[in-house]
Amino acid sequence: MANYSLSAIKPGVEMSTRSFSRSIPHPVTLLSVSDGVNENIATMSWVAAVSRKPPLLMVSVSPKRYSHDLMLRAGEFAIIVLTDARKNLATLAGTHSGKESNKWDMEEFKNLKQQAKQVKAPVLKHCGVVLECRLVNHVPSGDHTIMIGEVIHASGKSETPPLILSDHKYFKLGSFLEKYP
Ligand SMILES: Cc1cc2nc3c(=O)[nH]c(=O)nc-3n(C[C@H](O)[C@H](O)[C@H](O)COP(=O)(O)O)c2cc1C
Repeated sequence: MANYSLSAIKPGVEMSTRSFSRSIPHPVTLLSVSDGVNENIATMSWVAAVSRKPPLLMVSVSPKRYSHDLMLRAGEFAIIVLTDARKNLATLAGTHSGKESNKWDMEEFKNLKQQAKQVKAPVLKHCGVVLECRLVNHVPSGDHTIMIGEVIHASGKSETPPLILSDHKYFKLGSFLEKYP
């Protein structure tokens, strides 16, 4: 398997500003939403923590996604931070839309489906950390909407490394260097 080549990053060489996001490593997560009638699951990488007290995270969702309006209707959602072994789920949920069919009916999701603790959206067992959120704000931001969720339940500390997206490629987290001060 090819290693990530640092020589590919050439200091000072100009790159397209449109593809700046490729240069920022992101976690690979699944966004699960249900308004009680409709449910959906979709891959989201533009996810970050934004506050500790209260515990807030953001996920940047394009209005083109089926998930977008469903989130606004549901007022809640769950984020599943995928482990490296689950990259096939990221590709599945990120290349099909809930506009066409219910991805939760696919074997890959159905077999791992379980009830969340605090939200209506189903979650996945054995796939990584699950963060259940109440939607507290949403801010249009360019061609995406920043959805801000308060984490109301967190579970599943993962023993396997999280899956990372960088330059449109999946990676597993590398080796431990030192503890953050
Ligand atoms: C690795 C990966 C990361 C993605 N990250 C995002 C993201 O952060 N925001 C977004 O709106 N779409 C993102 N997408 C695209 C959506 O997952 C994709 O359009 C999906 O089909 C939307 O499903 P939906 O229409 O059922 O909501 C990503 C896709 C992949 C494969």
